Amino acid sequence: MKHPIGLSIRNGTKVYPGTIALSDADFDLHLGAVNVLVGENGAGKSTMMKVIAGVEQLTDGKIFVGDEQVTFKTTEEAARYGIGIVFQELNLFPNLTVAENIFIAREKTRGHIDIDKNAQRERTRALMERLEQDIDPDDLVGDLRVGQQQIVEIAKSLAHNARILILDEPTSALSAAEVEILFRVIYDLKSDGVGIVYISHRLEELIKIGDYITVLRDGVITGARSMEGVDVDWIVRNMIGESGKDFAKEIEHPFGEEVFRAEHVSLGSSGGGLLVDDVSLSLKHGEILGIYGLMGAGRSEFLECAIGRHPQAMGKLFIDGELLSEKTVAGRIKRGLALIPEDRKNDGLVQILSIRENMTLSSLMQFTRGFHMSLAREKSTVADFVKRMTIKIASPENAVSSLSGGNQQKVVISKALMTGPKVLLMDEPSRGIDIGAKAEVFRVMRKLAAEGLGIIFVTSDLDEVMSLSDRILVMSNGRITGEFDRETATNGALVEASAIGHTTTTDNKEPA
Ligand SMILES: Nc1ncnc2c1ncn2[C@@H]1O[C@H](COP(=O)(O)OP(=O)(O)OP(=O)(O)O)[C@@H](O)[C@H]1O
Ligand SMILES: [Mg+2]
Repeated sequence: MKHPIGLSIRNGTKVYPGTIALSDADFDLHLGAVNVLVGENGAGKSTMMKVIAGVEQLTDGKIFVGDEQVTFKTTEEAARYGIGIVFQELNLFPNLTVAENIFIAREKTRGHIDIDKNAQRERTRALMERLEQDIDPDDLVGDLRVGQQQIVEIAKSLAHNARILILDEPTSALSAAEVEILFRVIYDLKSDGVGIVYISHRLEELIKIGDYITVLRDGVITGARSMEGVDVDWIVRNMIGESGKDFAKEIEHPFGEEVFRAEHVSLGSSGGGLLVDDVSLSLKHGEILGIYGLMGAGRSEFLECAIGRHPQAMGKLFIDGELLSEKTVAGRIKRGLALIPEDRKNDGLVQILSIRENMTLSSLMQFTRGFHMSLAREKSTVADFVKRMTIKIASPENAVSSLSGGNQQKVVISKALMTGPKVLLMDEPSRGIDIGAKAEVFRVMRKLAAEGLGIIFVTSDLDEVMSLSDRILVMSNGRITGEFDRETATNGALVEASAIGHTTTTDNKEPA
């Protein structure tokens, strides 16, 4: 066979309380090839990979590596068989450096005693070169953007020379240029005989990179074949049992008065440069403004300035023409701003609270009359959002940590919408959510805009910015480098503007 099977699951079943996450699955993982996994949020993709990587164990069924039946109780045991995984959600230590994060589990020792920091640093430097990133081994991971952290996660798995490498949505925070780089690395690994599992909701990406495809639906494998001849329609049919759901038809609606204005917003970095450099913009009621740019262009930082995360930021903000003098995030939410952050797991959710509690965390006032919380009203609002956002849950009282990655994203979006904002700031709104849910989120965005909400969203996805925005701003190096309306915007013009004044070093601080 062209691509020998390196690992297989037979009759694999995984049961969580209240959920059958994987049901009687047969899966073959081919070496020297890219095996892609696709399915709606909560279909069981991450679960199937977690049992292979030793994070979870099957309730029933068997796993084979070659002819040997195996059970992995820990990721270390799986690693001994050459299995590595990059998790969907980031698992880095923000207060350690890039090099420390990459080698945390397997400190490179010299003479078995002290850790050879220099060797780690050199190895990290080589990995970053391979990934074509200007990230310094001594940078603190907490200072990096989500996309860069994702690159570090990938580097971490490369450092360990896995024979089977699982990438669970590695590109959800990467823009086109970084995806290209990752794909080149994947081609190299493939020719070295590594078996790669690749999970993504970007269907075109899957078709481009995959050699084999497996589709999951409600824990059941509904399709498995070689990628030859597979198109988007085939995937969607197997994913949701019908052909492509229509993307939102545009509802044309008139804009109102200006709802939000930023004047000369700037934010310095601790290294001396400017992360946000004199940004001014204006937004009308009902308008959707897309901000496109490459990783490190300052887009997320601008949204963070607007919501009040950086008290030291310069410039003025106005809501409905009135100066926004509140400095705190809570104060600004009260004035009608809401932010859906990029790093939803760490910024957006309290993992130990229930789904309901997370959703209503920012909008508790709404449910309070006098001093009494109306639990009934809270519950019905939550139920309404669960339905609207198609969140797949056993019960809203379960911990939010029991949700699949994509469904957690939807909880964060619901949470922001529940505060009833005038201006919604969204950082990568479709990150990690499946094609059906994405259409739903876009539809909700359009509908809210039609009701008068002003929306500013940041995306690395060209198609997304083109199809969703009434107006598009491009940022590069902290500055606005282009402005287009719906009619005049072209892919080429946006890409060109996103590269203006682009020097790769400004994203990162110099090592101390
Ligand atoms: N620790 C857990 N406790 C209870 N239920 C869980 C747990 N982890 C996952 N589940 C449930 O198992 C099902 C499958 O989840 P999984 O994370 O495998 O989905 P997924 O296909 O990776 O989805 P996504 O695209 O959103 O990442 C979901 O219904 C999820 O709620
Ligand atoms: Mg998942």
